[in-house]
Amino acid sequence: CDRINIAIDGPAGAGKSTVARLVAGQLGYIYIDTGAMYRAVTLSAQRLAIAADQDEALSLLLDKLEIALIRGEEGQSVLVNGEDVTADIRSLEVTREVSYYAASQSIREVLASLQREMAARKGVVMDGRDIGTHVLPDAEVKVFLTASARERALRRYKEMNNHEISLDELEAEIAKRDYLDTKREIAPLIQAEDAYVLDSSGMTIEEVVADIIRLCRTKL
Ligand code: C5P
Repeated sequence: CDRINIAIDGPAGAGKSTVARLVAGQLGYIYIDTGAMYRAVTLSAQRLAIAADQDEALSLLLDKLEIALIRGEEGQSVLVNGEDVTADIRSLEVTREVSYYAASQSIREVLASLQREMAARKGVVMDGRDIGTHVLPDAEVKVFLTASARERALRRYKEMNNHEISLDELEAEIAKRDYLDTKREIAPLIQAEDAYVLDSSGMTIEEVVADIIRLCRTKL
């Protein structure tokens, strides 16, 4: 049957990437983590000491960046100009600043068009903040995945092996990122009108995945 595109949006730590990866695996689709792309640009800019509001410098930088998402044995790797930055893009420095860079028009334009190209042949599960609203407004399935702020912080906390920040700090960091992502001018985090809203508080990953697969089957 025909392949479809699936958009999964929602606030930080809602479990989007885990769920999107599993849904893609079950359908034999390609998983695309758009947050990783914003993180990769942020890391590259930070290394060159380019601030989030230096639009011209960011534009020049983007011209020189080649971002690749590679499917490996242990999940997805992110390459920037051939360098594996998979671990570096998850650092606290990147996490704390990525939402400022993600507000830049130049960055959003370049990444959104890359993302549309990646989805052009259908059969992708893409997770992010603006996929259902801006990047793929025609996606056949749109999910807005959320959970309470405390639960999202707690899940992230359990994932961390070196507890470099406390649970309270983590919750504050997530809340701040959500605030910035929701309030920005261009393509803010907002639920698409036609999105299926899934509050995963109290649900297991398996239940969330099964729910989304059920929804996809109705469109296949
Ligand atoms: O998904 P993740 O938490 O890795 O995303 C990191 C940041 O990248 C988000 O907080 C947001 O600022 C930005 N982002 C975005 N649009 C997307 C995906 C991520 O603005 N589609």
